Amino acid sequence: MMSKKQEKYSVGIRIFHWLTSACVFTLLIVGWYMTSLEESVPNKYSFFNFHESLGIVVLVVTASRVFLKFKSNQLELPSHLGPYEKKLANSVHFLLYGLLFLMPLTGILMTLLGGYKVPFFIFEFPNIFPTNKNASKFFENTHGIFAYTIAALIGFHILGILKELILKKKNLLKRMI
Ligand code: HEM
Ligand code: HEM
Repeated sequence: MMSKKQEKYSVGIRIFHWLTSACVFTLLIVGWYMTSLEESVPNKYSFFNFHESLGIVVLVVTASRVFLKFKSNQLELPSHLGPYEKKLANSVHFLLYGLLFLMPLTGILMTLLGGYKVPFFIFEFPNIFPTNKNASKFFENTHGIFAYTIAALIGFHILGILKELILKKKNLLKRMI
């Protein structure tokens, strides 16, 4: 049962938050790095395989996290936040959750419609999709735009936490560690 004293996210949510965070930082760095490599770089496609596999981990973790979020008692935003700040924080969180689904989904669709199989570390999923290069290109562009969007939102998310710490001396991090 949630009591008024509950000040921390549940352990599952905390683990999923930091696991997702580590995966997404790695995916952004690897994503931008691998697409900057020349075709002649011998292990270019090992980076693609790693990137795609880790992206699927994010999809599975996010689905489990959202399930857990709605199944368990939800932690309210801190009461010292004003209504406008609460709306802003909730909107950023909502957009982050949305992109945590949309990034992997656009990646998977771009790969499958491009005529490739999606790897998962040492395995490969079969590809039953018909190849459609135009549709693949569309999802590739969307994936690229979403990457900048999620990076900007993460920056905004961190700034929000820093703002509370510096201006109001409220350490929100304690709720997530
Ligand atoms: C890829 C990076 C990240 C993503 C996608 C992300 C996503 C999220 C989401 C969706 C929530 C809302 C949780 C909920 O109510 O269900 C949240 C909360 C939180 N995040 Fe992050 N986060 C990321 C990185 C970080 C980093 C680097 C920090 C450290 C500064 C951080 C600190 C927090 C804190 C303290 C909360 C709890 C806010 C509160 O309710 O007081 N996050 N994060
Ligand atoms: C949260 C998950 C993900 C993040 C944050 C992410 C991030 C990125 C970034 C930053 C790039 C470089 C974009 C550019 O240079 O335009 C990229 C490219 C790419 N991503 Fe992801 N990605 C994720 C999931 C996935 C998944 C699940 C797949 C496929 C199964 C995938 C497949 C690809 C491919 C094939 C490219 C190269 C596109 C090209 O050649 O331009 N990504 N990703």
